[in-house]
Amino acid sequence: MPMKPLIDAGTIAARVAELGRTITNDFLGKDLVIVPVLKGSYVFAADLVRHIELDVEIDFLGVRSYGDQEESSGVVQITTDLSSSIEGKHVILVEDIVDTGLTVSYLYENLVTRQPASLKLASLLHKPARTRVPVEIDYLGFTVEDVFIVGYGLDYAQKFRNLPYLAVLTDEGA
Ligand code: PRP
Repeated sequence: MPMKPLIDAGTIAARVAELGRTITNDFLGKDLVIVPVLKGSYVFAADLVRHIELDVEIDFLGVRSYGDQEESSGVVQITTDLSSSIEGKHVILVEDIVDTGLTVSYLYENLVTRQPASLKLASLLHKPARTRVPVEIDYLGFTVEDVFIVGYGLDYAQKFRNLPYLAVLTDEGA
């Protein structure tokens, strides 16, 4: 599958470290729960938490989005729920990409009913060209064009999540 490098590993690492420092400063003295949304965010989340110098809990949300493979339908099913209560805790939902915004807005509405002390969003990438539901991203890595991105956790047909950098799939040669 032809692909072009988009953001190299060093640039990603520097930005993720910066986000970790900002989160550390914003939540000093608070109980923080980091909630990566599986699967795409696992690489970003693993790097991000190592730059957060606080006592944090990590808990995971597994979701399945119905509809065609490349576009989220807005109907999201939680396949793996959090393992403990977030009531009264400060929560950061961690995504790899906000595309239409449908997944995150569904999850936000769901989690807010559980009465966390606060609920913020960190996303490695944002693709504003595809917005259907505007979403406020509190901790954003990079804004990207409307191209198909793989690597650093993001897949195409479940492959390429293990690339250490971000790349664009191209149809050159197809
Ligand atoms: C991706 C990504 C977000 C969602 C964003 O997940 O991780 O959860 O799509 O799209 P949206 O803003 O249009 O809702 P995907 O369904 O590809 O699953 P994965 O994380 O398991 O790769």
